Amino acid sequence: MQGSANLTIMINAARKAGRSLVKDFREVENLQVSSKAAGDFVSRADIASEKIIRDMLTEARPNYGWLGEESEPVEGKDPTRRWIVDPLDGTTNFLHGLPHWAISIALEFKGEIVAAVIFDPAKDELYVAEKGSGAFMNDQRLRVSNRDRMIECIFATGLPFAGKLTLPATLHDLAQLMPACAGVRRWGAAALDLAYVAAGRYDGFWERELNPWDMAAGLLLVREAGGFVAPLREDSTIFERGEVIAANSAIFEKFARIIRQRPA
Ligand code: IPD
Ligand code: CA
Ligand code: CA
Repeated sequence: MQGSANLTIMINAARKAGRSLVKDFREVENLQVSSKAAGDFVSRADIASEKIIRDMLTEARPNYGWLGEESEPVEGKDPTRRWIVDPLDGTTNFLHGLPHWAISIALEFKGEIVAAVIFDPAKDELYVAEKGSGAFMNDQRLRVSNRDRMIECIFATGLPFAGKLTLPATLHDLAQLMPACAGVRRWGAAALDLAYVAAGRYDGFWERELNPWDMAAGLLLVREAGGFVAPLREDSTIFERGEVIAANSAIFEKFARIIRQRPA
């Protein structure tokens, strides 16, 4: 795809951070002796990735704002544009030596995501999208799936862990959804879950208690691949509550009806 100058900057930053994380991932696989040492090491890898991305993006576009998971947010001189960055999505996978994690970089303009890059270095899969120009993975055009029968669909989610408050709601979703579909996956990287919906690998995804950096790039990828994204509660916005439903356009209504059902 012939992308904008901003997209090129985002891709270069994601690839450079990806090289650093791949080196650290090899190291962490040999470091399982002490979970404290491995945890500290991964946290340093995560912060180093954010620094690489932040340095590259702010050098190229000094006036844009910044929202990243590992550093302080900055209101830019240009208040209409900001980067939204997760330097390592799927940290728990990374720590456990599971090759399913990614870098997620989005550009927001006047409250709307206009450019997106998600890079999965372990599989060498680079997902990109710009508003109105479609979504691509390694230069191949992406389309959401066209499955319209729930019983043939697989869905991804994130299961609330470590005392998150939305476990009962998610267990309720699973009890309703699982008998009606072909399966539910929990692979541990929300950015890739959304990229996989865009790629037609998953038919849909939902999750609660997410942050903007987990979703920003993935939301544009799904839209540009012809899918729907919406807040879980219709009286809210996706970022406001950190809750999202994404799916191919054929199954969205049926899927959303199940996920939006409240316990009796
Ligand atoms: C996490 C992953 C995970 C989701 C969590 C996120 P992190 O991001 O996206 O799939 O279930 O809610 O916090 O911490 O690995 O960047
Ligand atoms: Ca994340
Ligand atoms: Ca992260």
